[in-house]
Amino acid sequence: MANLASQTDSSLMILVLAAGMGTRMKSKHPKVMHAIGSKPMVGHVIDLGVSLGAETCSVVVGPDMEQVKDVARSHFSETELFVQHDRLGTAHAVLSAKEALEKHDGFVLVLYGDTPLLTTDALNGLYAELKNGAHVGVLGFEADDPTGYGRLLVDDEGQLVAIREQKDASPEELAVTFCNSGVMGFRTEHMLSLLDQVGNDNANGEYYLTDVIELARRQGLKTVATLCSEQDVLGVNDRVQLSEAERIFQNRKREEVQRNGATLIAPETVFFSADTEIGKDVIIEPNVVFGPNVVVGDDVQIYSHSHIEGAVIEARSKIGPFARLRPGAEIGEGCKVGNFVEVKKASVSKGAKINHLTYVGDAEIGADANIGAGTITCNYDGFNKHITKIGANCFIGSNSSLVAPVTIADGAFIGSGSVITDNVPTDALALTRAEKKVYEQWAARFRKSQQRLKARKAATDT
Ligand code: UD1
Ligand code: MG
Repeated sequence: MANLASQTDSSLMILVLAAGMGTRMKSKHPKVMHAIGSKPMVGHVIDLGVSLGAETCSVVVGPDMEQVKDVARSHFSETELFVQHDRLGTAHAVLSAKEALEKHDGFVLVLYGDTPLLTTDALNGLYAELKNGAHVGVLGFEADDPTGYGRLLVDDEGQLVAIREQKDASPEELAVTFCNSGVMGFRTEHMLSLLDQVGNDNANGEYYLTDVIELARRQGLKTVATLCSEQDVLGVNDRVQLSEAERIFQNRKREEVQRNGATLIAPETVFFSADTEIGKDVIIEPNVVFGPNVVVGDDVQIYSHSHIEGAVIEARSKIGPFARLRPGAEIGEGCKVGNFVEVKKASVSKGAKINHLTYVGDAEIGADANIGAGTITCNYDGFNKHITKIGANCFIGSNSSLVAPVTIADGAFIGSGSVITDNVPTDALALTRAEKKVYEQWAARFRKSQQRLKARKAATDT
């Protein structure tokens, strides 16, 4: 027994049940593909397994759920997928992955793909019991309203003796509020033999995974129930529950970000993705949205109404208000990206300023460059995208169009209102303006003639 923990720490398998059709989602996508914090629910569940140190991951899907495969593999490259053709119950679903279970030696945690809010703390409690010698365990919670859940039945010593499904429960059993979350854990040595004994003689005619508790007890095996919060095991069956799970997820993430040292002035108005990373002493004003894949360094300020996805923002930069950073935006240290500026697939080096009304796409901007208001990198010719390079210390005058591919070398100036179609050398001034023409007193004459015409028209109309 002394070696148990070390031997078994490296032999955890997670088995994710995701064959449910999710008809109540009214969607063409499998239920587990719907996202919480921009991450598909099945991804949340697999990541949880990874954070517990799972070595193996199997996902049971329904027919025609090819999409789930790629997502599952992107979270755990070795994920094995099994198709459950007929949906005959949770025990039957687990047995769809029999091939993986036969190969595995150690522990198995069975998770549902539509339960994205589960935490490592909750799972660790159950996992620890298995490591301490329990053969089968279940994660339970006290339900506000237990209707529909399997009830966890415990004996006088508090030992779990059975799980009773709603439809098969007696009136006394229905009064029990300690419920099955659906998460179950096993030591593999007895798992398959227990599953093989599960029948379908119940109100639903299904093979219930939950029956293994009574079967295990009958064999003298140790069964346990550990406790988690009802919120942790919220299952998503429709879009209303999806938004409820999103709400809980966002609140947790806002709290985490604040506890890690960032200020959110109005946290309830800031939306994160599951993978958003925010540094210390970052200040985020109200109404900011973080799409997937954003990393924000220390001391950054993000002003109101900014939308940021696929971007890296290095220390001390200031973003917004009303800035849009799209995938591939790499904002270096101490930069300014101001109001109504859009940056896509562009690196902006240390100290550069793009303060107003600008589009920077497919570009490289050198250190301390100043990009004037209304500058546009014309990156697309209707067929292909081209690169704009702006060197260090360049000054791009307002309302300039830089027609890519084009390079403005270090230190060059571009006069306001220019359309630059080819390269500009180091420290040069380039400008493309039509010559100014001045017609003295033209405006005064024009005004007078228009007023006369208007007065004449008014006289004839009356
Ligand atoms: C199950 C539990 C119940 C628990 C509840 C928690 C059983 C018999 N009952 O009931 O004790 O309180 O979850 O939400 O296990 N699935 C498959 N293939 C199947 C059947 C189900 O993959 O053949 C998957 C579903 O996609 C879902 C999960 O297993 O992710 C649970 O199935 P569901 O039908 O929702 O079970 P419940 O009746 O809610
Ligand atoms: Mg259910």
